[in-house]
Amino acid sequence: MNPAIVFRDLTVSYGHRPVFANLTGQIQAGSFVGVLGPNGAGKSTLLKVLAGLIRPAAGSVEIDGRPVKRRAESIGYVPQAVQMDEDVPLTGRDLVGLGLDGHRLGFPLPTRRRREAIEAALAEVNALHLADRRIGRLSGGERQRLLIAQAIVSRPRVLLLDEPLNNLDLASTQQVVELVKRLAHEGEMAVLLVAHDVNPLIGRADEILYLANGRMAMGPIDEVLRSEVLSDLYGYPVEVLRAAGRIIVAAGAMDGHAHAVSAASPEASVMLP
Ligand SMILES: Nc1ncnc2c1ncn2[C@@H]1O[C@H](COP(=O)(O)OP(=O)(O)OP(=O)(O)O)[C@@H](O)[C@H]1O
Ligand SMILES: [Mg+2]
Repeated sequence: MNPAIVFRDLTVSYGHRPVFANLTGQIQAGSFVGVLGPNGAGKSTLLKVLAGLIRPAAGSVEIDGRPVKRRAESIGYVPQAVQMDEDVPLTGRDLVGLGLDGHRLGFPLPTRRRREAIEAALAEVNALHLADRRIGRLSGGERQRLLIAQAIVSRPRVLLLDEPLNNLDLASTQQVVELVKRLAHEGEMAVLLVAHDVNPLIGRADEILYLANGRMAMGPIDEVLRSEVLSDLYGYPVEVLRAAGRIIVAAGAMDGHAHAVSAASPEASVMLP
């Protein structure tokens, strides 16, 4: 096995406030990992550390056996909630092309190779028909596919997607998750995808990395989304409920009510009758 990403003893603090400490793990090439956890758990922070955009207070990140570098061509990264002005004068093709321009030591590709790389990335996310459209006027799902195309146009080994499913309807969610799964498995990429609902990942992600309370649990969905594992991670009783093939994570039912938290984490307690 050759892991594409190895991180050891990662500790990150903003000022004196620790986000997480001593996270250790690895992700194989060809593996699709869902990243879950409540708001503020450090999911976006972890992705930025793996992308080399934030230096951890302690610990190390290796991509393909080498220390991670900022803006490396081997990493494709799509940040959380990319804002786009309706009037931004860029087409789909321009947006994808930006993915070839940002690398620190990148040499400009000759025009023909550049055009081919962009067309290939557009084709891979099934967005050739969006090449000439203005990006500010696309739907959320269409834009998300273009952002993924931008992240993969330089043929990275590692793809980091921060909440690409936000604001997507069920059909677009499934399309994007299937696309990401295919990129991981057929493209031999290591993919991390941050999500708030585990359900679209069931049967598609190979593993999940669950962050909470400054710590993490990683493994196949059925091994991590268990009441014992999450209760231990959160430090209070958490119940994982399964109904009709769906998973719900709820804070402990101390009073006979389940406090449904969300489809993946117990942060926003809602009383169920
Ligand atoms: N630049 C920053 N300066 C100070 N604190 C920060 C900074 N970025 C994040 N934080 C804090 O670090 C913690 C982790 O933030 P992060 O954005 O990684 O969480 P998250 O798991 O991605 O949450 P969400 O689900 O809301 O996106 C939060 O408490 C946040 O307030
Ligand atoms: Mg986040």
